[in-house]
This record gives sequence, C-alpha cells and structure tokens, in this order.
Amino acid sequence: MTARGRFITLEGGEGSGKSTQARLLAEALGAAGRPVLLTREPGGAPGAERLRSLLLEGGVDWAPLAETLLHFAARAEHVAKTIRPALEAGMWVVCDRFADSTMAYQGYGQSADRAAIATLTGLVGLVPDLTLVLEVPEEIAAARVRVRGLAADRYDRLGPEFHRRVAAGFRAIAAAAPDRCVVVDGSDTPETVHAALMAIIGRRWPD
Ligand SMILES: Nc1ncnc2c1ncn2[C@@H]1O[C@H](COP(=O)(O)OP(=O)(O)O)[C@@H](O)[C@H]1O
Ligand SMILES: [Mg+2]
Repeated sequence: MTARGRFITLEGGEGSGKSTQARLLAEALGAAGRPVLLTREPGGAPGAERLRSLLLEGGVDWAPLAETLLHFAARAEHVAKTIRPALEAGMWVVCDRFADSTMAYQGYGQSADRAAIATLTGLVGLVPDLTLVLEVPEEIAAARVRVRGLAADRYDRLGPEFHRRVAAGFRAIAAAAPDRCVVVDGSDTPETVHAALMAIIGRRWPD
C-alpha cells in the first residue's frame, strides 16, 4: 500500500476563523514533525488561482451553474496538481475551504442544483479524512469581517440572508456526514479554538 498523508479541510462562513486556524494547524503539525502542506480554495495551483481571481474580483455576475462549474474546474486543477501529489508523498494537507464550501455557498446560498454539486464532488473523487466546520454567531462573524478591513470580495457583499442560508447549509452538510465532519465553536480566542482542533485531531489519529 502506498503511504498516504491526511487530508484535513476547514470550512465555515466568512470570519469564522478558517484562515487563522488553518495557519495555526499547519504550524502545529509541522512542529510535531508532520510534513505539512497548507493550501486554500478557490486556488492552490496556478490555473486555479487564475480562476480564483475571476470568481472573487467581481465584474461578472455569474449564473449559479457557471459559478459552480468554475469552482469545480479550479478544484479539479488543485486536486490534480497540488493535493493528490502531496498526499501520495505522505504529507498532511490542510486546506482552507473545499467542496463543502461550494455546496454551502452555491447550493444552499445561491440555490444552485445540490444534486449536481454532489455529482461533481464525486467526480473530483477526493473526500477529506476530516472536515473541521467552524461555527460562530452571525454578529461575531460580521464584526470580524469588518475588523479585517480588507476590500470586501463578492461573497462578503452578499448580505445577511445569504450568509444565514450558507450557515444553515454548513450545519446540514456536517449533520449528513458525521464521521467526516466535526462542528467546532469558533467564537472563543484563536488559541482556545486551536486547542480544540488539536484535541480532535489527536483523538482521530492518536499515534
Ligand atoms: N478566534 C478569534 N477571535 C477573534 N478574532 C479572530 C479569531 N479568529 C480569527 N479572528 C480574526 O477575524 C478575522 C477573520 O478571521 P479569518 O481567519 O480570516 O476567517 P475566515 O478565513 O474564516 O474568513 C481576522 O481579522 C482574524 O484575525
Ligand atoms: Mg479566510
């Protein structure tokens, strides 16, 4: 059997702390002697980063199906060029967003065809070993996004109703895949949330 690493994804809405926790997780796994790759979606490979710009910059009001397919095109590139080679080399891949984000944002948030998204997810053919879903109350997430102070991207600008549908989507996705997904309260300090994530990983892979 070929040595295979572990594929860990972080999911959740804007301001839930994914990028912060992905970085802390990658640092901690590296410090523990694991070979780690930290990556993100959309993006994570040269072609996928070009698609990311198209998706996040605005300027095009994509039809939901077109947007879904662009996310999957980026994902197929990311999996083929970056994630699979790393896993085959035995690395632990920490990925900031993956297929659940497409289901939550396009499927639940924008009412794209959820069965089609599930089919495309199957076609990509790579299921995370563990998905950490960060959940924070709406007001905290909104305050963090304001504090971050960066220019809002297309998704940041979509308004509270959209983000409520996305949050409900993440909860439904996690409930439907309880072996893969763990929902974590992300409202505490970054250090406390990080400790919770490390405890989950330690329980899952005790060696
Ligand atoms: N646990 C936390 N408590 C307070 N602020 C946080 C916490 N985690 C992240 N932040 C801050 O909130 C903002 C959004 O966090 P980020 O990790 O970028 O979230 P996401 O990637 O989910 O949008 C950043 O400014 C970050 O520094
Ligand atoms: Mg982020």
